[in-house]
Amino acid sequence: MTSLTTRILSPAAADLAVAAQILTKGGLVAFPTETVYGLGADARNDTAVAGIYAAKGRPSFNPLIVHVADIAAAHRICEFDTVAERLASAFWPGALTLVLPLRENAGISKLVTAGLGTVAVRMPDHPVGQGLLSAFGGPVAAPSANLSGRISPTTAAHVLAGLDRRIDAVIDGGPSGLGLESTIVRCGNRPALLRAGGIPLEALEACLGASLITEFDAALPASPGQLASHYAPKGSVRLNATTVAPDETLLGFGKVDAALNLSPVGNLVEAAARLFDYLHRLDAMGVRKIAVSPIPDRGLGLAINDRLRRAAAPRD
Ligand code: TXA
Ligand code: MG
Repeated sequence: MTSLTTRILSPAAADLAVAAQILTKGGLVAFPTETVYGLGADARNDTAVAGIYAAKGRPSFNPLIVHVADIAAAHRICEFDTVAERLASAFWPGALTLVLPLRENAGISKLVTAGLGTVAVRMPDHPVGQGLLSAFGGPVAAPSANLSGRISPTTAAHVLAGLDRRIDAVIDGGPSGLGLESTIVRCGNRPALLRAGGIPLEALEACLGASLITEFDAALPASPGQLASHYAPKGSVRLNATTVAPDETLLGFGKVDAALNLSPVGNLVEAAARLFDYLHRLDAMGVRKIAVSPIPDRGLGLAINDRLRRAAAPRD
């Protein structure tokens, strides 16, 4: 797994055809989406999907998101209900993943669904990601293209920092615009927010005219892959910092004096787009102790704070 040469491909049609060929042969291709870069494999090929886990060093088989080129392709994989129809027509293509009952004979590898009766699907809103899905012509399983537990990638350089020589290729499509993973919603009679992400909770609730379940108990396992410690930079992370110790480096938000400020004007969209890149930069700077300014828990702030809490969580 570590002896591969990782090709860097451009978004040109000829390179997308090369990338599609690699997927057809069971290889691994990292590609840009509007949220973060994904590490793609043919979702129908067990060996290829197993390769994703090996390349990421993922300790267990957490279920993966299946990426599709259009709604028709999603319908072939899972059973839509009225909630799913509404959300897909409002937010696809886009940063929303729907968890729905898996169709029998959908042909999706059990390693993708971790044997669950449901499957997570998403239609990304990125010309290069879309170009790859069309060129390949099949469902692509893709987690974020980072080593397990580390910061998600929003550029091809971030991907290579973790996965160089572990994957066949990366398509360099420039920085991901949104910078946070998709929002995950389990559909059904009582739709539930499984992961906060690029589409704000408020927008989903406005679309459905109802509130989503956001609190979970043990009887209702939410998202099996949501590890407490995740998105971890090399340095420690302290949240809601209103003062900064001499040995700390501030990751700022709003009107504070900081080497790296997610958004001096306090804009949550700007902060989301910068979050993972700035954590990567703090890594590159060798910072040992990171303090983070308070960030409001509304709009994209919900997802930003979710990622920061995991970055700050105790590590094994
Ligand atoms: O923006 C994104 O969603 C990115 C890009 C590449 O599309 N992908 C991504 O994938 O974040 P990943 O593997 O890092 O996160 C997938 C999440 C996990 O938390 C997993 O537990 C959840 O989706 N998931 C997948 N299938 C599920 C299912 N059937 N039921 C509940 N949760 C599921
Ligand atoms: Mg991830």
